[in-house]
Amino acid sequence: NPIATPDISSCGPADLPPSANVLTCCPPPSNALPVDFTLPDATTLPLRTRPAAHSVTADYVAKFNAGIAAMKALPADDPRSFAAQASVHCAYCDGSYSPEGFPGVELQVHNSWLFFPFHRCYLYFFERILGSLIGDPSFAVPFWNWDAPDGMRMPAMYADPSSQLFDPRRDGRHAPPRLINLDYNGREPRFTDKQQVDHNLRVMYRQMVSLSPTPSLFFGSAYRAGDEPNQGPGPVENIPHGPVHIWCGDPNQPDGEDMGNFYSAGFDPLFYAHHANIDRMWSVWKGLDARSHTDLTDPDWLDASFLLYDETSKLVRIRATSVTVKRPVAVQRSKAEKASKEEVL
Ligand code: C2O
Repeated sequence: NPIATPDISSCGPADLPPSANVLTCCPPPSNALPVDFTLPDATTLPLRTRPAAHSVTADYVAKFNAGIAAMKALPADDPRSFAAQASVHCAYCDGSYSPEGFPGVELQVHNSWLFFPFHRCYLYFFERILGSLIGDPSFAVPFWNWDAPDGMRMPAMYADPSSQLFDPRRDGRHAPPRLINLDYNGREPRFTDKQQVDHNLRVMYRQMVSLSPTPSLFFGSAYRAGDEPNQGPGPVENIPHGPVHIWCGDPNQPDGEDMGNFYSAGFDPLFYAHHANIDRMWSVWKGLDARSHTDLTDPDWLDASFLLYDETSKLVRIRATSVTVKRPVAVQRSKAEKASKEEVL
């Protein structure tokens, strides 16, 4: 059977590192039962196009700052607040929930086939909330284009200390212009810039192509109701997803905060740009081979469901199947669009 998030009221203590700087990860409770997700109609919620973070305009950056500021200004018990959104991620990664019907078993959205659909759903509602707070439902979060040479540095807008997008709990050595190392393991490689770019492109090819020939390999191990968590990540979740987190987090914090630890990652605005690119990798992978790179068809994957708040603070149950793209990727967008932008729901 598919994994289902239980009622939010069952959210329990998180399994946090001893020196964690939060006490709980439970999002604010809901006083109504969750409603099932339906695709909004395009007139009220237009199709949004995510831009590459390194290529946006100053106007875009100002708008994005205003949106994050608005989320940060909301009280933590407002489900749309930046703090509440960050704790949603923590609750789903640090054992605050048990799958519906399996009390005592940990629910974990990483290290299995839930990784891509959970984070797509999570980012989707984060984006709707942000857009509604700035009165622009067409606003889309940027993606950190670390798979392309021009995007292999921390995007400048996140590195500006006066920006809402800045987080002091990062590795200071990795501010721009330092190139990212996509399979970073805590040790600094001795590469020239040219070698680092080549190395990163090789890493991408290995994870997206060589190691990901079939859907079951790409998405990661099956994870069903009653299973123990952490059945096994797919290649992209493993690398570069994990190393990018570690590369950003501050090694002088006790647990690599913020980006370098599950519980705290969502507190760095950079998380959402990282995951917008992870989300993009899902559609890039499908576009690489329209015939064999398809979504999974296992009903236990398609019907896996998560509880997330929308921009009206309504609790929504959304299933993996709602965030799979049914149209063939090849006709979905033009080549030019494909190079610099990514369409989302
Ligand atoms: Cu939910 Cu990048 O982790």
